[in-house]
Amino acid sequence: MIEPLEYVSRIRPYVPGKPIKELERELRIKECIKLASNENPLGPSRKALEALKNFLETENEIGRYPDGSGYYLKNAISNKLSVNGVKVSPDEIILGNGSNELIDIAVRAFMGPGDEAIMATPSFVVYSMAVQSAGCLYREVPLVHHRHDLLEMAGAINRKTKMIFVANPNNPTGTINKRPEFEKFMERIPDGVLVVIDEAYYEYVMDTEYPDTLGYFMNGRDVLILRTFSKAYGLAGLRIGYGIVRKEIADEMHKIREPFNTNTVAQLAAMYALTDDEHLRNTIEINEQGKQFLYKEFDSIGLKYVPTEANFIYALLDSDSKTLFNALLQKGVIVRPTGPKEIRVTIGLPEENKRFIEALKTVLNI
Ligand SMILES: Cc1ncc(COP(=O)(O)O)c(C=O)c1O
Repeated sequence: MIEPLEYVSRIRPYVPGKPIKELERELRIKECIKLASNENPLGPSRKALEALKNFLETENEIGRYPDGSGYYLKNAISNKLSVNGVKVSPDEIILGNGSNELIDIAVRAFMGPGDEAIMATPSFVVYSMAVQSAGCLYREVPLVHHRHDLLEMAGAINRKTKMIFVANPNNPTGTINKRPEFEKFMERIPDGVLVVIDEAYYEYVMDTEYPDTLGYFMNGRDVLILRTFSKAYGLAGLRIGYGIVRKEIADEMHKIREPFNTNTVAQLAAMYALTDDEHLRNTIEINEQGKQFLYKEFDSIGLKYVPTEANFIYALLDSDSKTLFNALLQKGVIVRPTGPKEIRVTIGLPEENKRFIEALKTVLNI
């Protein structure tokens, strides 16, 4: 067999869950509910769905390659993003096959052998995978009170550091780092280090002290702000996200991205999703209601949790998370064990949240 690359063989692979239909068949349960991947329980906007239907019925573009520049979508995103009346230019936006892909592209574009990245732990697993697959090293800085320890992260920078990843809100904890500490953190970032600010859950944040990171970008700082259509916009299955970054950095990333990395239907759906403010409002409202319901229920059964700024809740158990995960699975409820005694549960529709709580009470004998 061909010899694997040493640094690739060390990567712990991401293990995807089984298709839900397969689980239902195996467990002989009808209507499993999946609260494991932080998707929007309302699904996509009707406007996006209608646009897709019309497109598939009336156009014959599927046989052609997509617009590799994402011209219309980048313009639509640009029209939504401005600071003090100054718009983010389409040249400063880069599209990805999910924001996941942009993490990978950024690492490959700016990190080479011997370079290092800094990230928090626990945080989004894809950062370390991307860095490892480029043959580079990473340093992990533990969360403090379930939040990024930004000053410790800045203090960990050395001459080899090329990139720092900050998930804000963080996955799996749902916490944010607020404006004042973010400001101090940014003051400590030397030239030559790219700060990747992952705002996958941006639309859900309620805290008024959430940093406005576009300001750093407008001031010419080396930040790559990542956002996605997978979460609040409900388009996870189509794989589309975007980055906001200085043009010079975007240009380097474009050089190594696959020329047609985002597909025609994803670009179209994302453009229409951006026009549907009502769907976004409903999404946020249902998330808020679900959050309050789950907080109340968790309080009433004495389950500890971390207050969230996203569409999922990180719960802290007294017992083994895998055991709870398996017990809930038998009841047709899929959550995500994220640590030995931690689970992450996506906030679902009201009936899904109720079912989850009923199942939880049954398996915990409450
Ligand atoms: C923090 C964070 N960043 C990025 C992503 C990936 O999003 P996308 O679907 O755009 O690749 C996720 C998805 O779970 C996430 O939690």
